Amino acid sequence: MAEDYFARVEEARSFLAQTLPYVPEILLVLGTGLSGLGRSLKSELVIPYREIPHFPVSTVESHAGELLIGELAGRRVAAFRGRFHYYEGYSTRELTLPLRVMSLLGARILIVSNAAGGLNLEFCPGDLMLIRDHINLIPDNPLRGPNREEWGPRFPDLSRAYSSRLRELFREAARELGEEIREGVYVAVPGPSLETPAETRFLRLIGADAVGMSTVPEVIVAVHAGMEVLGVSVIANVNDPDHFQPILLEEVIAQAQAAEARLTRLITRFISKI
Ligand code: HPA
Repeated sequence: MAEDYFARVEEARSFLAQTLPYVPEILLVLGTGLSGLGRSLKSELVIPYREIPHFPVSTVESHAGELLIGELAGRRVAAFRGRFHYYEGYSTRELTLPLRVMSLLGARILIVSNAAGGLNLEFCPGDLMLIRDHINLIPDNPLRGPNREEWGPRFPDLSRAYSSRLRELFREAARELGEEIREGVYVAVPGPSLETPAETRFLRLIGADAVGMSTVPEVIVAVHAGMEVLGVSVIANVNDPDHFQPILLEEVIAQAQAAEARLTRLITRFISKI
């Protein structure tokens, strides 16, 4: 099984090595409602996932499926428009295959975005939160099974998974643009059902500021591969366990889309500083 996975990664890598005009230095993963961020890319190439050997196919409507290659703020960037989730039925090893491939091609920096539910009651819908740290509650780990030493260590250290250098540069970009930025801990849950009030109370108690169903598997693989990581959550809704309101996907998508222009400006300014 693992050998099979290694072979699939190698085939996808070799296809892209022949197809891409250059090695992208920065990889962007565009989350729910943020795929429009890709429009700011001076795009050289758009490759649908289905044309890339062994890339998974997205099963959710709110996630398109294509790889964009282009320039942003003068830097060579690749962007995944559309990502995969554990709740779709993929193992976290499978859903991180595209990211593993890009790391092997030479991408050094990962910028990952998502729409998340706020647990910190100081947050408001529409806030942007830099991820300082994470908690993995998805009952899987993308590095489970045989380890490939050339890809990274058996027991990767996650004490500094989210680069403080990149967070500082992002905050600098935010100051320059007059944007307020939150910072906090992101917890990944398996989904697809949303949290109950009791689960929300639990997630707050264990120290999380925002909850979502993605990002953590990708960050684990990126750190394993030696990439520097920046994560940003758009706080789409805020879940107060004592006044719990239904969480509606349409509202989550609407809030993420409303934040898209701000996040695009911030990320563009941030990239110009890296
Ligand atoms: N919970 C889990 N995932 C989410 C939420 C939420 O409240 N909002 C957006 N993604």
